[in-house]
Amino acid sequence: MTDLTERPELFAFPQDRACPYHPPAAYRSLGDGPPLHRVTLYDGTTAWLVTGHAVARELLADPRLSTDRTRPGFPALTPRFEAGRYRRTALLGVDDPEHRVQRRMLVPRFTLKRANELRPDIQRIVDGLLDAMIAQGPPAELVNAFALPVPSMVICALLGVPYADHEFFEEQSRRLLRGPAAEDVLRARDRLEEYLGDLIDRKARETRPGDGVLDELVHQRLRTGEVDRADLVALAVILLVAGHETTANMISLGTYTLLRHPERLAELRSDPGLVPSAVEELMRMLSIADGLLRVATQDIEVAGTAVRAGEGVLFSTSVINRDETVYADPDRLDLRRTARHHIAFGFGIHQCLGQNLARAELEIALRTLFERLPGLRLAAPAEEIPFKPGDTIQGMLELPVTW
Ligand code: HEM
Repeated sequence: MTDLTERPELFAFPQDRACPYHPPAAYRSLGDGPPLHRVTLYDGTTAWLVTGHAVARELLADPRLSTDRTRPGFPALTPRFEAGRYRRTALLGVDDPEHRVQRRMLVPRFTLKRANELRPDIQRIVDGLLDAMIAQGPPAELVNAFALPVPSMVICALLGVPYADHEFFEEQSRRLLRGPAAEDVLRARDRLEEYLGDLIDRKARETRPGDGVLDELVHQRLRTGEVDRADLVALAVILLVAGHETTANMISLGTYTLLRHPERLAELRSDPGLVPSAVEELMRMLSIADGLLRVATQDIEVAGTAVRAGEGVLFSTSVINRDETVYADPDRLDLRRTARHHIAFGFGIHQCLGQNLARAELEIALRTLFERLPGLRLAAPAEEIPFKPGDTIQGMLELPVTW
């Protein structure tokens, strides 16, 4: 039985990627070994890093692992993550049974049917942004012209948040996910809570509700007392932040990755029916949420390893999604692969609530982008285009393109 305190070798987590669509080489080398590894975090504490697909699914479904960031021993990847110790995050930072109550309230609003009903609106948003980009370019900076506004506009329309305020909430989200210190995160959360609290109060005063998810929740759950204002505001914060940052990174990094694989891109262009499986394969290969965090609440024995209560458990989705026992030739971008059981949207009770919406957005955004701009290419040497560091959601910091 392996014990966290017994193994001398230390491996630092997180590390930056050298190529934005491949895991850091050091993570990859772990994939060949046992499914759990001892790692050291920025503050000198140690935790377990899970890299095996089967063990990851087993542990992510295990109620003895908690996502409550206020619990002692919850792992922090940088000083920013310390903010979680002071204030709980709705949904993602809550365990069952409380989590179940919050999730049940939202599930009917994020079904596949609802996501499919939104497709015409998503298409209109994508077309409008590409019209504007084409009218102004070439060249263009794709993150700001397209990858960020698509999901930002979609989540605003879905929730009933005015897109006119996008600069404000995009900036606060950036601080939440990339700010240097815990105070940046706490201040950004305060601002988002104040903003969304005011919006919710305004919606509560309206006699005829709008058709956004927040309008529905205000009129069907807040007024009836099923949810209180503070909880609704906290849910609105996570929906707004999770609803645009992640998808924006997938659009920018997905585009970059396809442009770096011209043969695969040609295959996709010649067969648009491949788009859904291409999106799934990009989700697997890019694994942009590359470091899911948990803490053990009880002792757990898994794959010959003793995980003790109070120890942190991290999941490298990029290595897990390249487990050779599950995916043949895992480093290869194979748009025809059936990659659906990847864990790029997580697994277990916290599996991404917005995955149907994200898939619809990615399919429409990528298909339309490459259809409308057959000559799309990078406008700078690929190796010089900056991307995000390893401690946050992976994606491009900017993406200069021309056509
Ligand atoms: C491609 C884009 C996306 C990726 C890669 C992604 C990834 C993830 C992952 C990995 C988790 C689980 C985290 C964990 O277990 O620790 C998660 C949870 C979540 N995601 Fe997404 N997500 C995406 C898009 C979205 C969208 C569009 C929404 C819209 C609202 C959303 C809302 C959420 C919420 C609310 C949770 C927490 C669910 C819970 O705790 O029950 N995500 N996401």
